[in-house]
Amino acid sequence: MAEVRLVDIEKKYGNFLAVPKQSLTIHDGEFLVLLGPSGCGKTTTMRMIAGLEDITSGDIMIKGERVNDKPPKDRDIAMVFQNYGLYPHMTVRQNIEYPLKLRGMSKVDRKARVQETAEKVELDALLERRPSELSGGQRQRVALARAIVRTPSIFLMDEPLSNLDAKLRVTMRAELKHLHHELGVTTVYVTHDQMEAMTLATRVAVMRDGKIVQLDTPKKIYAEPADLFVAGFIGSPSMNLIDGAVQSGVFRADGVELPVDLAGCKGVVLGIRPEELDITEDAGAAISGKLYALELTGESTLVTLRNGPSSDCARGHADFEAEINSPCHLAPKDGARIHLFDRATGERLR
Ligand SMILES: Nc1ncnc2c1ncn2[C@@H]1O[C@H](COP(=O)(O)OP(=O)(O)OP(=O)(O)O)[C@@H](O)[C@H]1O
Ligand SMILES: [Mg+2]
Repeated sequence: MAEVRLVDIEKKYGNFLAVPKQSLTIHDGEFLVLLGPSGCGKTTTMRMIAGLEDITSGDIMIKGERVNDKPPKDRDIAMVFQNYGLYPHMTVRQNIEYPLKLRGMSKVDRKARVQETAEKVELDALLERRPSELSGGQRQRVALARAIVRTPSIFLMDEPLSNLDAKLRVTMRAELKHLHHELGVTTVYVTHDQMEAMTLATRVAVMRDGKIVQLDTPKKIYAEPADLFVAGFIGSPSMNLIDGAVQSGVFRADGVELPVDLAGCKGVVLGIRPEELDITEDAGAAISGKLYALELTGESTLVTLRNGPSSDCARGHADFEAEINSPCHLAPKDGARIHLFDRATGERLR
């Protein structure tokens, strides 16, 4: 049972404030994902929890105990680093076996455990190689195997799937999800991939410039992004964000006219997700423009229309076809969620 609490932690590198003062509680058994663009402070936050990075101020509490001065090896955590962190002189087998050896498991048990774990990450054919003889994706899987070969109190994983090919990434994602279900180990997982965050997380902490801007369940973050940054970051293709104004309960922008639940406001950004728009023949539809591009994804066709400098995207039927540059109209589906943001502050209006 391991709860992790970051209390008013702050991290400065010299004069550079990498993580401004903030608090975060990761519940026992939770799968918490730190999500954000490159350089936003994900790894730094993770390394502070691990004890690999000094904190400038604040406290880190694990299982109710202040661990600021405890070295990493005494925190009962297993880590997967962004840069693998494998022992170069050891074979794959020895790398994976190492945490078990440290804890004094018998040779026979170790062998069985390594075999089982290697099979999970599809490494069983490579056990006698050294890290230098592996591809990036294979090295990443060794790092993952070394972390999951035993059951610690906390897993810390920094982009553990980023170097795998698309297919293996999806397989490993399901493997991690299942593993978390089986073991229930408190997990902090870093990624810049919103799909990974949405599919794996109990809760997602969306970070920007070192700060957590929203902390919620994936469902809530998707349905009610707190600001424009989160709205644009979550979802693929991303939410259509249309710059305009609201007057007498109607939102207007070039080629866009849509009644909204707001009396009036000058600088408004209206957000609507591609999957909540229908493609229609109705020239009076909320959004009108010229068809710009059609992209077949397999299960659907992404339809992009342009009106002036702005473009909007809808997810249409897989066999939707039309002439590029012909007039095109989009209408919100029944019950579609319309998001309104303040253009100046970026904050959600309702
Ligand atoms: N040792 C260091 N000295 C100075 N600045 C650092 C150091 N380590 C990280 N930084 C800076 O702190 C900020 C956060 O870095 P961090 O590695 O936590 O980002 P990240 O969110 O993990 O990014 P990525 O997705 O690219 O891995 C960055 O601006 C980075 O340049
Ligand atoms: Mg990082």
